[in-house]
Amino acid sequence: MIEVRNLTKHYEFGNVTALKGINLSFEGGKFYVISGASGSGKTTFLNLLSGIDRPTKGNVIVDGVDLHSLREKELRRYRLENFGIVFQFFYLVPYLTGLENVLLPMRYSKKIENPEERARELLKLVNAEHLADKLPEHMSGGEMQRIAIARALANRPKYLFADEPTANLDWENKVRIWELLWKIRKEERVTVIVATHERDFFRFGDIVITLRDGEVHEVKDGARKA
Ligand SMILES: Nc1ncnc2c1ncn2[C@@H]1O[C@H](COP(=O)(O)OP(=O)(O)OP(=O)(O)O)[C@@H](O)[C@H]1O
Ligand SMILES: [Mg+2]
Repeated sequence: MIEVRNLTKHYEFGNVTALKGINLSFEGGKFYVISGASGSGKTTFLNLLSGIDRPTKGNVIVDGVDLHSLREKELRRYRLENFGIVFQFFYLVPYLTGLENVLLPMRYSKKIENPEERARELLKLVNAEHLADKLPEHMSGGEMQRIAIARALANRPKYLFADEPTANLDWENKVRIWELLWKIRKEERVTVIVATHERDFFRFGDIVITLRDGEVHEVKDGARKA
């Protein structure tokens, strides 16, 4: 469970308060969609939840751990072991193959006993076994994102964060990736938190949180069941 208390982010540059004291909780095992117009604070929020960035004020408490009270090194280790993160632009390592990209987080964490077996299992899960030996430059956008999702799951995270994971894909691949995230939530028993402005996919959320101008505007049940 993640508890968010009075979470505030002020950017000195431009003198913008991007998040204005957010209070929310995220229950384990659910699928959350964070929606809102461009500039409403989705990316800022996700970056504070996932420990990519630090808040100006407030707390993010993950299963009892006050994330931002951790020092840089502890935070990095905590993230590596508990969080998976997926980005809009995939960020695969360009000189590593699909398989090697998925192996990478396991090499750092040493949390997984048999990394190669885990990596192959994940490639299968995301339907990308045929990409094991390919470099990212020879993959399509949808393929790169599937590898990125497999990589994010490598260390068996409790939480999977994704920021606009389908913004750069064509319609068919958007749908495939959302269906995949949905399946993963069940099969990997991970809590999924996805930021998107794409209305077509709000229905995937058990809970849809809408931000407006740095505040929580609405918290609603999503449409998708089972
Ligand atoms: N690094 C930064 N420095 C200064 N201001 C920033 C920074 N990042 C975001 N902002 C500002 O904070 C506000 C929220 O931005 P954020 O990127 O969180 O919105 P968003 O909802 O993710 O938007 P989008 O849908 O366009 O991705 C905006 O006013 C933005 O200009
Ligand atoms: Mg954003």
